Amino acid sequence: MASQSEKNIGVLMAGATVLFLIGVTGTCVLPFFDESINTPTASGKLRNYPANSAEARGRVVYIREGCFWCHSQAVRPVKADSKLGPVSVPGDYYYDSPVLIMTQRTGPDLMWVGSRYSPEWQYQHLENPQKFYQGSIMPKYNYLSEQDKKDLVAYLMSLKPAPTNQAGAAGQSGSQQTLKEIHR
Ligand code: HEC
Repeated sequence: MASQSEKNIGVLMAGATVLFLIGVTGTCVLPFFDESINTPTASGKLRNYPANSAEARGRVVYIREGCFWCHSQAVRPVKADSKLGPVSVPGDYYYDSPVLIMTQRTGPDLMWVGSRYSPEWQYQHLENPQKFYQGSIMPKYNYLSEQDKKDLVAYLMSLKPAPTNQAGAAGQSGSQQTLKEIHR
């Protein structure tokens, strides 16, 4: 049976408002005071591309072509991601606007893909992914202009951890074994 307070609309409204405000404070207000969120990491600073640099232009192509629908940019603190490199932290995204973290992983995570391949590989793979992975469902991007392809490769190559973070990071070797595990 409902108690007296459950029938009282005033009490219900006040209770809902208090809970809502706690939610807003926790998710929208408190993060402003969290230093770790509001300070760019060394890797985050690498993503502060000068306007109209190849990397900045490549990032625009990445967004325009919808690469983010299939690729996330976030290494989670879980075993499955342990070969991908350092776990992503908020400061890594300080300059990433709009943030390309995303959630879909139809293809592998690209947070630190710049430390896995050479620029030549990236270029060839964009042109024809199936040349490297038979049956890959990644579209061929050979229709892009030469400039767009080069810019995109520059952007992909910039996605790597800052040297200071690299020492203890897994997945930096670029060995075939590591790649195979990522592609599982
Ligand atoms: C339809 C989904 C899809 C789209 C869209 C897509 N990819 Fe992929 N991508 C994949 C899949 C699946 C793989 C794994 C097989 C392969 O390497 O071809 C992959 C692999 C990759 C790799 C290699 C990653 C690694 O660690 O081996 C890179 C780099 C990459 N994609 C970049 C891009 C870029 C840049 C774009 C946009 C221009 C893009 N992808 C668009 C699905 C996609």
